[in-house]
Amino acid sequence: MGYRIVVVGATGNVGHEMLNILAEREFPVDEIAALASRRSLGTEVSFGDRTLKTTDLDTFDFTGWDIALFAVGSDATKTYAPKAAAAGCVVIDNSSLYRYDPDVPLIVPEVNPQAVHGYAKKNIIANPNCSTAQLVVALKPLHDRATVKRVVVATYQSVSGAGKEGMDELWDQTKSIYNPTDSKPATKFTKQIAFNVIPHIDVFLDSGETKEEWKMVAETKKILDPAIKLTATCVRVPVFVGHSEAVNIEFENPLDADEARDILRESPGIMVIDKREDGGYVTPIECVGDYATFVSRIRDDSTVDNGISLWVVSDNLRKGAALNAVQIAELLGRECLKKG
Ligand SMILES: NC(=O)c1ccc[n+]([C@@H]2O[C@H](COP(=O)([O-])OP(=O)(O)OC[C@H]3O[C@@H](n4cnc5c(N)ncnc54)[C@H](OP(=O)(O)O)[C@@H]3O)[C@@H](O)[C@H]2O)c1
Repeated sequence: MGYRIVVVGATGNVGHEMLNILAEREFPVDEIAALASRRSLGTEVSFGDRTLKTTDLDTFDFTGWDIALFAVGSDATKTYAPKAAAAGCVVIDNSSLYRYDPDVPLIVPEVNPQAVHGYAKKNIIANPNCSTAQLVVALKPLHDRATVKRVVVATYQSVSGAGKEGMDELWDQTKSIYNPTDSKPATKFTKQIAFNVIPHIDVFLDSGETKEEWKMVAETKKILDPAIKLTATCVRVPVFVGHSEAVNIEFENPLDADEARDILRESPGIMVIDKREDGGYVTPIECVGDYATFVSRIRDDSTVDNGISLWVVSDNLRKGAALNAVQIAELLGRECLKKG
C-alpha cells in the first residue's frame, strides 16, 4: 500500500521538480493530485509517463490525503497549509513561513533526520532555504569530526531561486541586450540581472543584512548546531539553475584539507570533484538535474587556526527544494507513517 500525495504549486519550478523526483525515485504513490491557482486550472503537468491536469488549491479537500508537498509562496501557504494539516494531511513546506517555528521541524535528511518525529505537533515539516540545504550537507560531516566554530560564506545564487518569473526576466533581458527595441523593465530583480550580479536577495533588515543572509544563519543553527557562528553575503547571478557557494570554515579542532576531502568523499549526498588542474572543479551548469551537493576547491586556509576553504555547488531546485522535500517524505514514511 502506498500514499495519497498532493503537490501544491505543481505548475511552478519547484512543483515540476517534485513531480519529476517522486517519479524518478519511485515513491510509493497510490494517488496523486497536482494543484495550483485557479489561473492554471486544467494545465497539464508530467508525472513520469503520465499527464496530470492541475486543479484549484482553493477548493481542494485534503481529507484522506497523506502528504502534501507545498511549493507556493508564504502567503498561499499561510492560508492553505493549516487547512491541510487540520485535515490530517502532513504538510512538507518549501516556503519560509514555518522554518523558525519551534514546533515545526526543519529538516535536511543527511543532517538531522531524527527531527522528523517532531512533525506531529503541527502536522507540518519545513524544508530549508536552497542555499542553506547544500551548505549544511557539506558542513555536517566536517562538524562531526572537528566542530565548526565559524563560517564565512558568499553565495552565487541562480535566478530560478526567484521562481519562474526570475528565469523569464533573465531570458528576456539577455535577448534585449541584442535587440534593444524588445527591452522590458526589470520587475523581479532590483537591478539588471543579465550580464550583471546583484548583492541583494529578499528584503533588507535593520541590521543591514538581507533576509536571505539572516535565513542562512538561523537555519544553520536550527538544523546543525546553535553554537555555529555564520556570516553570509548572498548574491544573485545570471545563471538559470544551480547555486554556488564560496565557504571559509574555522574549526575548534585540527583538520586539514586532505582529511576534509577524505571525509567528504565518504559522506551521504556529497560528490567531491577536486582536481588541482584546469576544469578540475564543478560549475553550476554541470550540477543541473543531479541529486548531489558537489564540493570542489578544498584547501587549507592559513589565515586562521584550523581553517579550510571550499566551493559548494548544487541544483537549487533539487537539493535546495524538491529533492530535499521528497527525501523528507521518504523519511516520514519510513520512520512515522509506515505505509509504503
Ligand atoms: N526556487 C527555489 O530554488 C526554491 C528553493 C527553496 C524554496 N523555494 C520556495 O518554494 C516555493 C515555490 O517556489 P518556485 O520557485 O516553484 O515558484 P514559482 O516557479 O513562481 O511557482 C509558484 C507556484 O505557486 C503557485 N501559486 C502561487 N500562488 C498561489 C495561490 N494563491 N494559490 C495556488 N497556487 C499558487 C503557482 O501557481 P500558478 O502557476 O497557477 O500561478 C505556481 O505553481 C516558494 O515559497 C519559494 O520560496 C524555492
